[in-house]
Amino acid sequence: MTDIIALYGSPRRKGNTALLLKKAVEGARDAGAQVDEIVLRDFKISPCMEIYGCKKEGECAIKDDFQNIRDRILASRGLMIASPVFFYTVSSHVKMLMDRCQSLWVKKYWVQGVVPGQSPPIRKGLVIAVGATKGKRLFDGMLLTMRYFFDVLDMELWDSLLYRGMDFEGDVLKYPEYLDQAYARGQDFAHAVME
Ligand SMILES: Cc1cc2nc3c(=O)[nH]c(=O)nc-3n(C[C@H](O)[C@H](O)[C@H](O)COP(=O)(O)O)c2cc1C
Repeated sequence: MTDIIALYGSPRRKGNTALLLKKAVEGARDAGAQVDEIVLRDFKISPCMEIYGCKKEGECAIKDDFQNIRDRILASRGLMIASPVFFYTVSSHVKMLMDRCQSLWVKKYWVQGVVPGQSPPIRKGLVIAVGATKGKRLFDGMLLTMRYFFDVLDMELWDSLLYRGMDFEGDVLKYPEYLDQAYARGQDFAHAVME
């Protein structure tokens, strides 16, 4: 079992969320955790086609890189997921993965008949997000989406690192305190996951 999956959800390889997540990965590794990094843009994942091939056994009928990523997440004890705010929610790369996890939702609630709210979480999640603007409700949409995604993965939201006012690639480098915070929370997350 892997300790932690680090999921890079931005289309930018060296964007703000990627730089922050890299720091969190560094912190988690320095704390002794085994971290498996996944850069979503490197994988071919179809959107959910809503054919409900998963109705029978909870297995998605579309065969692509989704299964690889799903299995790696399910074999972990924690997920650090980084996404820019795109139209007040997650990036399309992240959303595509989330929608394919509807097969896990079907498996949990339809196939296995789990009663909502009655399966204790077995994983922890850390969200890292960046938006360009500064509104109070900038992360509301994303966090709601994440909450339901995490439920499907039997995951509780451990913490979220949310940063406003950064737009261009590398803007986060102007704020070393954010990168230090990501490193420190990465360390804390590793300890929490390995408890
Ligand atoms: C398609 C798209 C949609 C965006 N939507 C929002 C938005 O709704 N609110 C916001 O504050 N910033 C928005 N942004 C700006 C990004 O959140 C911002 O540039 C962020 O720093 C990108 O993070 P990254 O470098 O990790 O990709 C959007 C950018 C793009 C390309």
